[in-house]
Order: sequence, then structure tokens, then C-alpha cells
Amino acid sequence: MKQILTIVGARPQFIKAAAISHTISEKYSKVISEDILHTGQHYDDAMSGRFFTELGIPLPKYNLNVGSGSHGSQTAAMLKGIEEILLSNHYDGVLVYGDTNSTLAGALAASKLHIPVYHVEAGLRSFNRDMPEEINRILTDHVSKLLFAPTQTAVKNLRNEGFKEEEIVFCGDVMYDNVLHYTPIALQKATERIPSSPFILATLHRDFNTDNPERLKNILSALNTIADTLNTTILFPLHPRTRKIIDSKDIIVFSDHICLTEPLSYLETLAALQKSCLVLTDSGGLQKEANFSGKCCVVMRPETEWVELVEDGAAILADADKKRIVSAAEKLINHIPPHTNHFGNGDASDKIISQII
Ligand code: UD1
Repeated sequence: MKQILTIVGARPQFIKAAAISHTISEKYSKVISEDILHTGQHYDDAMSGRFFTELGIPLPKYNLNVGSGSHGSQTAAMLKGIEEILLSNHYDGVLVYGDTNSTLAGALAASKLHIPVYHVEAGLRSFNRDMPEEINRILTDHVSKLLFAPTQTAVKNLRNEGFKEEEIVFCGDVMYDNVLHYTPIALQKATERIPSSPFILATLHRDFNTDNPERLKNILSALNTIADTLNTTILFPLHPRTRKIIDSKDIIVFSDHICLTEPLSYLETLAALQKSCLVLTDSGGLQKEANFSGKCCVVMRPETEWVELVEDGAAILADADKKRIVSAAEKLINHIPPHTNHFGNGDASDKIISQII
């Protein structure tokens, strides 16, 4: 029996880990067993605990409770905690997801102890090293034993960086597995936070948007203009960082068409995507989830790792430029993106686990 340690810490990782955990318990529980370590990077119930209950993920065996902090102090606390656990237990491999500080800490701790690292969502590049996530993903890829690439673009990026063919596995995207599995469940659970009439779903949490007053003002002002000129509700669930900044500064008076809420749960997000007519976001995951749900997306970042969506016309890069955001929204609202299979066939988690075994 192989024993692996799954390391998670931030909201999107709970979602990605759910796909793998289900596959292990449904199909591979006789050959591989998984313990979950939660770094505590996200800790509010709306950002963490709720996802475990809703997605039916086994509760973490370990929780480091590191909480928020500067990149260095947060990553250092995780590194120390993860190393202690790896030293006092036997694991055949460590599974890490995406590009957060929790990903990097897990990959560094394990690789220095010569424990194989398996990286899910390997090979993505924004080619913007000002993003902490870009540093996390490059470093994680370079200490990993198996690189699970969700798209052919990711495979190409890894080849360009000199990885060997036997290290790269094109598996598709675990988030696509999840959207297929959970959307019917989400649609059965009506929730009062989701408007009944057609609406736009917006999210914003990147530090380069929230912590830069000019960018933040441009984006919020674009949301107001879109809501008013298109006469459409914008459902705007707030990440705690964004909420703190909006509450503490007198940045803007929101249009009556903008509906601010607490972060949505995963099932609420999937239901909202189904019922929305457009997505505006600076998230990575939501760009894809919008696409999987048949919706177009305006990306409020200068670049994206999911270049396929832009090439297909399913997403438009608008950065924090008010005019570009408004005109992209006008163009993409109610538009249905082409159906493609850039992200695999919905069996990414099966491919990942069978390869690890
Ligand atoms: C992290 C990831 C990012 C991912 C995002 C998903 C890094 C470098 N970034 O960004 O890639 O897209 O998670 O949400 O790892 N906070 C709370 N409660 C919480 C969590 C955070 O109040 O439960 C607030 C704190 O003020 C904290 C801030 O949000 O300082 C930022 O949290 P942090 O975990 O540092 O990064 P995210 O922006 O969430």
C-alpha cells in the first residue's frame, strides 16, 4: 500500500484535492492511501472549513494553522511544520496543487527529504515574475518528480524548460472533473444568495489589483458602468482581503445593481456560473470554471495562464483598464464560448492516481 501526503492550504486547493480524494476512495483505496495536511493558509470558514464539508473531503489529519502573514514568514512557518510531519511519519510521496505558498512549502520540504513530489497543475506560466504564484509554480515544477500538466500549453512550457518526457504527464484538468461531477448536485441546491434573473458574476482578489488604489478604482468603476449601462445585476462575492480594503477606504459608491456578498461556497459558485450571463474575474480557476459552464469571461489581469481561452475568443484580457473591461463585457455578455477539449475529458484525477501508483 502506497501512503501519500496531500498538502493543501488555500481555497482552490480544497476543490482540486476533492477530485483526487474521491478517485482514491472510489477506485484505488486498496493500493493507495492518503493523509491530508492543511497548512492553515486559509482559515475563515467561508474560505476553508465549508469546502471540506460540502465536497465531502476527508478532514485533514494535520492542521498547521499558520494563518496570514508576509510571503516569507507564512512560507517559512509552513516549511517548518511540514518538515516535522514528514520526518516523524513515512510517506512514499507528496501531492501538491497549483501555485500558492502552501504548494511551494510542501514541494520544498518534501524534495529536501528526497520524498517524491507530484505536482498537479504543473507547467502553467504567466511569464510575469511579479506574481508570487509564478515564482511558486516555477520552483515547485523544478523540484517535482511527476508533472501533471492540465493543458498542452503547459506541456509545451515544461518541454521548453528542459523537463524530460517521462516526467511530464498530460492529464487534463481536475477542475473539469469537478465541474462535471458537482454541477448537477449544485443545481439541486437552490440558494438565496443567487439572483433569479440573469446576472454577471464578478470576483477580485489578486494583490496587484486590490492593493493598488488606481487599479482597484478603475476595476470597481468599470463594474458600476457595466451594471448600469447593461442594466444587469452584478453578483460580487468578496474575498476577505478585498472586503477589508473596500471597507477601510472610501474608494467608490457602488451602483444599486451591484450585489456584494460573502465568498460563495463551491456549490453556490457552480450554480451561479450556470445561471450567469458573463464572468468578470482576476482568478485563474474561475476563468476555466466559467468556460466549463458555457460562459465567457473578462480577465482583469494583464495576462493569463489559460491562453487557450483567449485564443478561442472565450475570454478577453482587459487588465485593469476601465474602457477595455467595459467593452469586453459588452462584447461577451450572453455569448456562448466554443466547446473544446483543451482541458481533457474529465478523467484527470484517474490519470493522476494511476500514474502515481
Ligand atoms: C492565495 C494564493 C492565490 C490563490 C488564492 C485563492 C498565494 C501566494 N496566493 O491568495 O494564488 O488564487 O489564495 O483564494 O498563495 N484572509 C482572510 N481569511 C482567510 C484567508 C485570507 O482574512 O481565511 C485575508 C488576510 O488578510 C490575508 C489575505 O486575505 O492576508 C490574503 O490571503 P493569502 O492566503 O495570503 O493569499 P490569497 O490572496 O488568498
